[in-house]
Formats: sequence, C-alpha cells, structure tokens
Amino acid sequence: MTVLPIVTAPDPVLKKKAVKVAAVDDRVRQLMDDMLETMYLAPGIGLAAPQIGLSERVVVIDIGRSEENRQPLYLANPEILWVSDEDNIYEEGCLSVPEHYAEVTRPKAVKVSFLDRDNNTVEIETDGLLATVIQHELDHLDGVLFIDHLTSLKRNMILRKLLKQKKEAAADK
Ligand code: NI
Repeated sequence: MTVLPIVTAPDPVLKKKAVKVAAVDDRVRQLMDDMLETMYLAPGIGLAAPQIGLSERVVVIDIGRSEENRQPLYLANPEILWVSDEDNIYEEGCLSVPEHYAEVTRPKAVKVSFLDRDNNTVEIETDGLLATVIQHELDHLDGVLFIDHLTSLKRNMILRKLLKQKKEAAADK
C-alpha cells in the first residue's frame, strides 16, 4: 500500500465536483486501500479522493480510531437517500484544513447508498458521529469543505491562516 500526500486548502481540486467511477474494479480497490492507509497514518476518520488530488467519487471512513477497533467503510459513488429533520452539532476538523476545528450543524441521521469494495450496492442508515462523517466526506465530492458551513467571516479567517501557512512552508523549501 502507498501513503499518498494530502492536499490542503485552499486548492482548486478541493472545490471541484468529483466524477463517478464506472465500477469498483482493481484500480479503485487499490485506490481505496491506499486512501485508507493514508487516513490511518494521518490520522483521520474519513478521507475523500479529492483530498489526495483525485477528482473521483470515492471515500473511506473508519470511526473506530484504534488499531484493535478497525471497521473500515469503503464508499464509491455514494448518494444520500434520506436525512432526518433532527440536527446534530459536532466539532469538525478535516485533514485538508489542518489544525482548525469548528462546530457544524448537520442532520442527525442519514440513509446512504454506495458501491462497496466488492462493487456491491449497499444501503446503510446511521446516526451520530458516523452520520456526520458520511456527510462531511460526501461534501468533499461536491467541492464543499466543513468551513463552507461556517459564516464567511470565520471561513475567511481560517482560509487566510491556511494560505499564510502554505506560503511559509513554500518559503522554507
Ligand atoms: Ni474533510
């Protein structure tokens, strides 16, 4: 497996609508495995293909957090079928928005359909943290970051800091 570099905001690939994969074939399976490895190492609990610079509708999630507790979810071409009226608020972060966290309000429960690692169509209904992570990752496929759910004042403050960090990192090279 290969650990891939993670793209951080601001970057055009993070704002782009990703395209569907034709099927989960060996190439997509390899991509899913590499993304999962990258996510575990980061460490994170979700990663979408645009975050490694690939504009395709592929996501990996594992909210298990510990090595003994691993429960990876592989999603290709995911679609939200239903969301609850009731909302939840979680403090969210993102590997593409390093070191920034903010509370985001989203529907508490979702029903989602996707192709799994074996190219089978799967439907799951879930709530709590997993429902939030699914919505956060699916947003990435449509070029939306969690900071896009904040006020423009907060968003611009975070983006300015990220841009500054990027410039400083580039200058150090
Ligand atoms: Ni994210």
